[in-house]
Order: sequence, then C-alpha cells, then structure tokens
Amino acid sequence: MAIKRLSHGQGGTSDSLPPTPRAKKTRAEKLQKTQEKENLLLPTAAKDETENSENNIRPQRLDDYIGQQDLKQVLKIAIAAAKVRGESLDHLLLYGPPGLGKTTMSLILAAEMGVNCKITAAPALERPRDITGLLINLKPGDILFIDEIHRLNKITEELLYPAMEDYRLDITIGKGQSARTRSLTLPNFTLMGATTKIGALTSPLRDRFGLIERLRFYEPDELTLIILRTAGIIHTAITEEGAKEIARRSRGTPRIANRLLRRVRDYAQVNQAESITEELATVALNFFKVDILGLDWTDRLVLNTMIKQFKGGPVGLEAVAAATGEDGKTIEEVYEPYLLQIGFINRTPRGRVATEAAYKHLGY
Ligand code: ADE
Repeated sequence: MAIKRLSHGQGGTSDSLPPTPRAKKTRAEKLQKTQEKENLLLPTAAKDETENSENNIRPQRLDDYIGQQDLKQVLKIAIAAAKVRGESLDHLLLYGPPGLGKTTMSLILAAEMGVNCKITAAPALERPRDITGLLINLKPGDILFIDEIHRLNKITEELLYPAMEDYRLDITIGKGQSARTRSLTLPNFTLMGATTKIGALTSPLRDRFGLIERLRFYEPDELTLIILRTAGIIHTAITEEGAKEIARRSRGTPRIANRLLRRVRDYAQVNQAESITEELATVALNFFKVDILGLDWTDRLVLNTMIKQFKGGPVGLEAVAAATGEDGKTIEEVYEPYLLQIGFINRTPRGRVATEAAYKHLGY
C-alpha cells in the first residue's frame, strides 16, 4: 500500500520553522494511521480485531487456496487465457452451500487479474440506481461480485442482461410519455455471481455466464490444512491431531472450521492449555455441543423432529420449519445440504425422509 507523504510546506508550515505542537501531533497521527493501515502498528484491541476478522485469514492468491482443485484448474486456465488476450475474465457464476469460499474466490480472482473487486449482494440492489451506480463506476477489467444473485429483482436483472452481453447500460430518463432510453457504454468487466440456489436463477441470467462452477464440500484433510494455516495466522498453538479433530467436526466447510477453531482457542486459553491437542479439541467441542460429525443443536433438533413428530417422514420443509421454529429457508440452505451430503436425510417427491443412518447416529 502506498504511503501518502506530506509535501514540503503543506499545511502552511514552512520547512525552516520548527513544526508547531499541533502540526507535530497531526503528523504523528498520520503516521499512526498509515501504520495501522499497513498493519504494522496496531493498538492491542485493534490487533485482536484484525486477527479475528475473516478478511485476515482469507487466502490472497490461488496458490494459497486449499481445496477445490478442479475449480482452481479451470480458473487458472481462464485467467491465463484472459491475460494473454488482454481481456477481462468471462462472467462467472459460483454456486454451492454457504461458507465454502465464493467471496474469497472472487477476491483472489481480482488479485490474480490485478483488478478491483466490488462486492455487493442482491438484497442491497433494490432500486435501478443501485446497480447503475455500481456499473458506471467500474474500471476496465474490474470484477463486480453479487452475492445471493438468485435474489435479484426483475428490473435489476434486466439491466444486467445488456451490461453482461454488450457492456451496455440502458437507462430510462424521465417518466411517462416523455421517458427516453439512453445507452451508456460500460468498460469490459466481469460479473461474478454467487448463489446457494442455482435452481432459483432465471435461465436468461444463468445463460449469460460463460463459466458456471460448483464449490463442493471440503475433505477432512483439506480442512485440517486450512485450520493449521488459520491457527498460524491467529498465533494459536495446535497439533496436527488437534486440527484433524476440529476438521472432522466442521461439516466440510472452511467457515465452520475457522469458527470452531476460534471457539476451541477460547476454551484452551481459559483453561490455560498450551496447545490445542486432539484431547483438548474433543473436550472443547463436546462442551460447545458440536458432535463427532459436526452436527449442532439445530441439526439434531431438525432430525429429532422429523423422527419423533413425523415418524421419519416424508415431511414437507414448511412442516419441519413450523415444528422446529426455524426459518424454512435457513433449514433448506444452511442445514439440509450437509445432512443430505452425509446421507442423514433424503429428498423424495413427497417430502424429506430421515434415513437409517440418522436414526442410528441419534441413538434411536
Ligand atoms: N480459509 C478459508 N478457506 C480457505 C481455503 N480454501 N484455503 C485456505 N484458507 C482458507
């Protein structure tokens, strides 16, 4: 990051005169600010904050990104080809359950391409001027990342069609009979969409993405590496077996792995443990009610409700939601994907069914 320096004589202070105490303070403050920005000089509280923030533990480059090997290969080709041609990356749609690294991947792609990445989410793009404001401020090659892209409203989505296809923005000026359409030329940019529900995207929008890629759940070995990497960044001592234990209970999801690591770190700190060993991780995660497969209280509530109240199903999503007091969308998008993945529930045309494996795991 560039350090902005005061130029000679700036602020009305002559170089030949000693700086006034006020000017001195300002310079000191500026230096502190710069150093804070550079992450060199941080007050303790701010430092903890930074260490904890998700941004600090995100990998910055494709080679630091652990897992998703197939996706990385595809993206490496796309990046190399776009660079050779001197073009922007093709529009890219990433889908898959939450917490698998869709936002991280967009930031990495921007870094690899040497461009800016603007991050937004569909619910923030309510009015036409929200998306037009973002589009007209893009620079050539920039990446516009729209999270939860399946939630775009119709008007915003239709503004995106010509923007994606022809780098053109059609805006309407005026109202009623005097309304006129004007076309603005946009710089070549890349739209990156992320969604947990690819089926909810309209086909005209989906078809305008050149690359459509799925993020899959991570293997325990990959999560172990991610946990060891994060532990290094947040200065936490951990053994490989300790990391493996957390990985096993992280539901194939880096965001959960990193969250559990922080909880176990708290537990270790309070109990004055020197390092997170397998035993400590086991005790801590049991304490936090995360079971050996990573199921938490809500997962077990959903399964228990299906088994006890609905005789194992088939049962509709809304019935489970009403009986558990959980939001149906949250069950569908956050809890169900992993329960489906580990074979604890099946989807049938008549509703969800709890499998024998789920009965066994819950001790029925
Ligand atoms: N932190 C979160 N996800 C990660 C990943 N895929 N690789 C490395 N560190 C991560």
